[in-house]
Amino acid sequence: MISGSILSGEIDSKKLIIEFDKSNVDYVHLDIMDGKFTENKTWTFNEIKKLCDLTSKKLDTHLMVKKPIKYIKDYALLNNEYITFHLECDEDILNVINVIKNYGIKVGISIKPDTDINKIFPYLTYIDLVLIMGVTPGKSGQEFMEESLDKIKLLRDKINEIGRSIIISVDGGINENNAKDCIDAGADMLVSASYLHKDIKNNVNVLKNMF
Ligand code: DX5
Ligand code: ZN
Repeated sequence: MISGSILSGEIDSKKLIIEFDKSNVDYVHLDIMDGKFTENKTWTFNEIKKLCDLTSKKLDTHLMVKKPIKYIKDYALLNNEYITFHLECDEDILNVINVIKNYGIKVGISIKPDTDINKIFPYLTYIDLVLIMGVTPGKSGQEFMEESLDKIKLLRDKINEIGRSIIISVDGGINENNAKDCIDAGADMLVSASYLHKDIKNNVNVLKNMF
């Protein structure tokens, strides 16, 4: 599966979401940053609501914020398949999981490149998706860290061992040269911004055909 991010330093988000809507992308990935967990800050909720009116694709919301709960209350109003928050946030993880679940939305937890993958294992019985970051959260256009491949493999083995169907998604620096390595390591979903933005229609299909 492919999740298309509308995060870009250059291209207008409205243009991107319209193009993703017309493409074969499985989800639109919303990168929400609070300027605290990350240096940058992204759209307000009102701006996002207007953007999301332009697509009928299901959303894959990625909250890069210190305090996810107040964001979840807003974002739950949108057409989400998944809401993902960070293991490194400042709120109680099980509580955040329950808040998302109570809205009937699937739950994802994301981990930064320097966080040990073992730290997510205690939560695997409660969640639907793990988002492994291939870059430090904050902006699009960074280079994929190859070390992330080992994390994907370890996580895939652990998920197989516990026998639950949990999606492994990989986000940051994905392109046509490293996508296959991520899939071979065990990824089910790839998130991409800058690579897809070069030619949304075509590049979504290039990545999709690698599965
Ligand atoms: C990074 C975001 C990613 C980003 C991906 O902080 O979470 O979703 O938009 O952008 P690329 O694919 O350009 O690395
Ligand atoms: Zn993201």
